[in-house]
Amino acid sequence: MAASAPGKLILFGEHAVVFGEPALCTAINLRAEVFVRPYKEWRADGGSIDEPRYRYVKAAIAKAGARDPMWIEVRSMVPIGSGLGSSAAVTVATLGALHGIAGALDAPTIAREAFEVEHEVQGRASPIDTSTATAGGALLVRREPREDLLWTIERDTRRWCLHRARLPDLDFVIGNTGISAATGPLVAKVKDRVDRDPQAADMVQEIGRITLDGLAALQRRDLVEAGRLMDRDHALLTALGVGHPMLDRLVVAARPSSFGAKLTGAGGGGSIVALTDRPEETADAVRSAGGKAFVVRPDSVGVTKQP
Ligand code: PMV
Repeated sequence: MAASAPGKLILFGEHAVVFGEPALCTAINLRAEVFVRPYKEWRADGGSIDEPRYRYVKAAIAKAGARDPMWIEVRSMVPIGSGLGSSAAVTVATLGALHGIAGALDAPTIAREAFEVEHEVQGRASPIDTSTATAGGALLVRREPREDLLWTIERDTRRWCLHRARLPDLDFVIGNTGISAATGPLVAKVKDRVDRDPQAADMVQEIGRITLDGLAALQRRDLVEAGRLMDRDHALLTALGVGHPMLDRLVVAARPSSFGAKLTGAGGGGSIVALTDRPEETADAVRSAGGKAFVVRPDSVGVTKQP
């Protein structure tokens, strides 16, 4: 049995979403595939499943309650540590393969279990990555349920309502700085600023408005306006303390050939995203500035069983 799930890209709203503001995320056409077969002992890619890189796989096995040992193969196109949701894609594909053995895939169950796996392994997480890897397409996360609600995920005092959003076909260029930065301390840093500085709280609210305006602009294909909002979002995130000189370098390199560019995900390193109708040119510019570049498109297909 095998299943695949997509990586993700946060287009607007990272960090502000932690304060209950909306965020917009899309699945991308880089996927992770996981194969599972009964075997006499647990194996991952032929080796030990206890290696640290299989911790999401192992936690997903425990969450799905699989007892009989299996040989597992993990293949992923999603680059690790680039803010593109590689751990979520692998977690969701593992759960998809394990649940697939039992019959049909139930997306809300997989989304919830995958969120719990990420939460256990990382210590904290929002359900954006795992829900997007499960549902595919674009998702709008809000605190309150609205039209097009897919599911709600709650943990402790927090609640996330995951909504279906629709985006046209677009090209995005990802520019990876190659600098890894953990999400937790960056989230803590923003909280500290917001607690001390009312201007920072205003910035978080402005990011929330940008998210909704950005979604509307993308939907009416006003890419100039969507790009302008991405640029503004990048400036706000940088002012909130999650920028990095290399992120600035990559957005500056990307902008002449694109509508706009911003950091994506937690920041502090990680990646930028540029909205462009000249993807090869933008990717070359990012490479010349010292980043790794990938051209990606939204992918409407979430977790799926493979034949
Ligand atoms: O971990 P990443 O790079 O996908 O980014 C997480 C997005 C944040 O808004 C910064 C944190 C969160 O849990 O929503």
